[in-house]
Amino acid sequence: MSTPPDYNIYVFPDSLALQQAVAGAWVDLAREAIAARGKFCMALSGGSTPKALYQLMASAEYRTSVEWDKCHLFFGDERFVPSDHADSNYRMARLALFEQVELATANIHHVDTSLADPESCAQAYDEELRSVLPHDEQGRPVFDLMLQGMGDDGHTASLFPGTSILTETNKIVAAAYVEKFNAWRISVTFPVINHARHVIFLISGKGKAEIIKKVLLDPVSEPILPVQMLSPHGQLDWYLDSDAAVLLPANLINQR
Ligand code: 6PG
Repeated sequence: MSTPPDYNIYVFPDSLALQQAVAGAWVDLAREAIAARGKFCMALSGGSTPKALYQLMASAEYRTSVEWDKCHLFFGDERFVPSDHADSNYRMARLALFEQVELATANIHHVDTSLADPESCAQAYDEELRSVLPHDEQGRPVFDLMLQGMGDDGHTASLFPGTSILTETNKIVAAAYVEKFNAWRISVTFPVINHARHVIFLISGKGKAEIIKKVLLDPVSEPILPVQMLSPHGQLDWYLDSDAAVLLPANLINQR
């Protein structure tokens, strides 16, 4: 994990202010990418926290601020469930955002979980990312923005403690069996997050205060937490609400 000077920690008084700040960053980064490269490629995160952000982006306040026809939206991870299953990250984003804005189906890139097994889903998604994303000088696919959440065990995407995907460096997408959920996930691997131009961690609520302190303040201890394995080459910023940041000292927090 990069040391504090390598990333910013922004704290907002409540969840709405937090979502508005991330929405503003999303709009700015989209404009920047479209102006520079003609399109904006972003990986959405799943779970519960980002749903309010996706709904906000679909609201009258933000929906007209993005050239959706020049945006390609992906997922950092997906559960190995049907795309209309209640646990599907795609289903959550479809209802909260995709169906509310003018976004062509061809611009939505979700994991095809209808394939035979998790490995096939991962392989197909790996190929899709490689074909749609811009590549850097080393030929690596590069996201303009990756929105990441974090669990209270320090996982991000579906990079969970104790899983083999943590050491995957060749594939950009892999399948991972997550013991604690007795379920398969499909997830980007660390190299993809490490080479994204921007990474934003969106973290909200008192339930994340302990893990935020552990990740950002405490000395790294064994077993190292997945998010501490990140080594971002781009800009990584933490966007927290005051509840999630309650255990952080003021001198660690950046002013916006
Ligand atoms: C997922 C996410 C996962 C999520 C964290 C935090 O598929 O669940 O991609 O990495 O971001 O588990 O989830 P909450 O926002 O629900 O706390």
